Amino acid sequence: MTHAAAQVASKITTATLRARKTGGTPAGEKTAMVTAYDVVFARLADDAGIDAVLVGDSLGMVVQGERSTLPVSLDDMVYHSRIVSRGVRRAHLIGDLPFMSYQASTEDGMRAAGRLMKEGRVEAVKLEGGVEVAELVRRLVRAGIPVMGHVGLTPQSIHQFGGFKVQGRTQDQRARILEDARAIADAGAYALVLEAVPHALAAEITGAVPVLTIGIGAGPSCDGQVMVMHDLLGLEPSWKPRFVRRYAEMGKAVGAAFAAYAADVRAGRFPSDQESYE
Ligand code: KIV
Repeated sequence: MTHAAAQVASKITTATLRARKTGGTPAGEKTAMVTAYDVVFARLADDAGIDAVLVGDSLGMVVQGERSTLPVSLDDMVYHSRIVSRGVRRAHLIGDLPFMSYQASTEDGMRAAGRLMKEGRVEAVKLEGGVEVAELVRRLVRAGIPVMGHVGLTPQSIHQFGGFKVQGRTQDQRARILEDARAIADAGAYALVLEAVPHALAAEITGAVPVLTIGIGAGPSCDGQVMVMHDLLGLEPSWKPRFVRRYAEMGKAVGAAFAAYAADVRAGRFPSDQESYE
C-alpha cells in the first residue's frame, strides 16, 4: 500500500472519534488536535499524525493581528478552511463558525455551516455556546452536519466575560457550564471543546457527557487536547500563558534566519556562484 493510500485507509472520522469515547478510550489513546490556517502547516500536522485539524477563528488573532476573534468573517473562514483542506488527508477537519454567523437565527447558522462544508471542504463545524445554541446543533446534526461544541471560555463572548478569564470558578458558573455541556451533548454533538476551566470541572464534564471532550487550558482529564499552532510552535515568543507548552521556538528560529539572510545580502555573501545560473 502506498503512503497516501495507507493514510486514507486510516482516515480519522467522527465515527473514529465517537468510538474512542464509547469504546472507553484506553490510556494513551487520547485525541491530539491542533489549529492550522494554511496548506503548509496543515500538511505538516497531518503527516505528523495529528488526529484532528481545526481551522479556528483564532486566525483573527494569530494570522490577521486582531485583538479578538470577533472581526473574523464567514468568508475568511471559508477561504482558510479550503486551503487547509488541501493539506489534510488522514486527520479529521473541523471549521469554526465565526461570530454572528449563527447567533441571530438558526437559519443563519444552517446556511453558514452549509457554506463551510460545501465551499470550505470541512468535515464538521465547531460553534460556541450551550443551551442557547442547542436547537441549532440539533438541526445541523439532522441535516448531516457533524457539530463540535465549545463551552467554558468562549472567545466570541469575550466582552461579556470582561476579558480572557478562566470560567467555572464560582458555583453558578460551574453549574451553568455543566448544563451547557449536557445540552450540547444531548443535541447530538460528537465532541466538545472545554476551554479555560478548572481541571476538576473538566474531569466532571468528561465523566458526565457521552461525547469526546477536547481541552485547552482544562487539565489532563479531557479525552483529548487542542492547541493553537502558533502557541505550540513558539511563533509568538512574547506570548506564553500557563496552559501553553512550547514544542519548538520557531519565532526565534525564523527571526534568526531572516536576520542571517539580510546580513548575507548586505555583505554580498548571497547568492554565491553555486546559487547563480551560468
Ligand atoms: O479558534 C480556535 O483556535 C479555537 C481553539 C482554541 C479551540 O477555538
